[in-house]
Amino acid sequence: ETVDVDPAAYEAGEHESFMHKEMLEQPAAAARVLSGRLDERFGTAHLGGLNMDARETRAIRRVKILGCGSAYYVGQMGAALVEELARIPADAEAASEFRYRDPVIEPDTLYVAVSQSGETIDTLLAVQEIRRKGGRVIGLVNVVGSAIARECEGGIYLHAGPEVAVASTKALTNMFLGFSLLALQLGRVRDLSIADGRRLINGLSRVPEQIQEILDREAEIAEVASQLAAAESLFFVGRVRGFPVAREGAQKFKEISYRHAEAYQTSELKHGPLALVSEQVPTVAIVPDDELTDRNVGALHEIAARRGPLVVITHEGVDLGEVEASPNFLARIDVPRNERELDPVLLVVPLQLLAFHAAMQLGHDIDKPRNLAKSVTVE
Ligand code: G6P
Repeated sequence: ETVDVDPAAYEAGEHESFMHKEMLEQPAAAARVLSGRLDERFGTAHLGGLNMDARETRAIRRVKILGCGSAYYVGQMGAALVEELARIPADAEAASEFRYRDPVIEPDTLYVAVSQSGETIDTLLAVQEIRRKGGRVIGLVNVVGSAIARECEGGIYLHAGPEVAVASTKALTNMFLGFSLLALQLGRVRDLSIADGRRLINGLSRVPEQIQEILDREAEIAEVASQLAAAESLFFVGRVRGFPVAREGAQKFKEISYRHAEAYQTSELKHGPLALVSEQVPTVAIVPDDELTDRNVGALHEIAARRGPLVVITHEGVDLGEVEASPNFLARIDVPRNERELDPVLLVVPLQLLAFHAAMQLGHDIDKPRNLAKSVTVE
């Protein structure tokens, strides 16, 4: 399998930055990672590179995902997908911590290393530590033939094409879709029904055009960003599927706008951070239409009552009640509906645009934020 982008010919072109170009490439990149991997007939995914037969796949009792930065946050989204679709206990951990705590390596755990570059030293050393102890590691890697790809026993190439901007966009989208394919395949050798498999395949195939729908509203989202750029400090909140989305949103915002952005579980607001909510501290809240919408809206009331400015990333038709009429309500951004399990990949796109436009308005170097490197290859 090859990627139809020539790295040598890859330039920002008419775009003001690589990040902007890469955000806009997401629909095409998303279509590539799915291409040839959706099996409509059996309602499953075709992942030839995993190098595991059905019996080995069934023997997996736990999934442990390792990555750094955005790859770690998308790993948390991936863990939720694996638990929901395959009902296998799954979690994600920062690769940079994992190997320093003398981890117990279990033979029936599937370890998954996630990395755009395939060269991040912390992730690579985690893979080597697992393999030294006889664990099975697969990779979700973008760069073909990279160090992590070579160390893994199998994997899923992400086919996002070259990514230059430090703030990851299209690679992250494709990581999420790669996890969706993995979770679908793990689920379908277990108890996920063929009907549910087909439901997800249908949802996955709509993702590229739905990302495009959000990108088409860039001007509107840039307006919202201008209202956030002045804040010294912001909260990003979400619950369950929405929490890693909030973490990724806060990460992007702090990376390129240099504002203090902190992610919290919405449910934890009342256990501490609510003390800081004020007219000066806006909150970006992830409120998809799901099992937790009512509780999420309840938390928004708490923020509005303290005059906290609010931006809500949600779905059309979600009733935010009086919150929307509160004096410091800034905006709601509705993303297209898909299957609930796949919501994170769409909820995250407006957060990329918010971070990008806030940083642009602040006049920052988007592609090379201070103190950060695209890949950290030394300890
Ligand atoms: C660095 C970058 C992050 C990136 C992380 C993991 O810290 O600044 O943007 O998410 O590395 O990179 P990887 O290439 O392993 O995905």
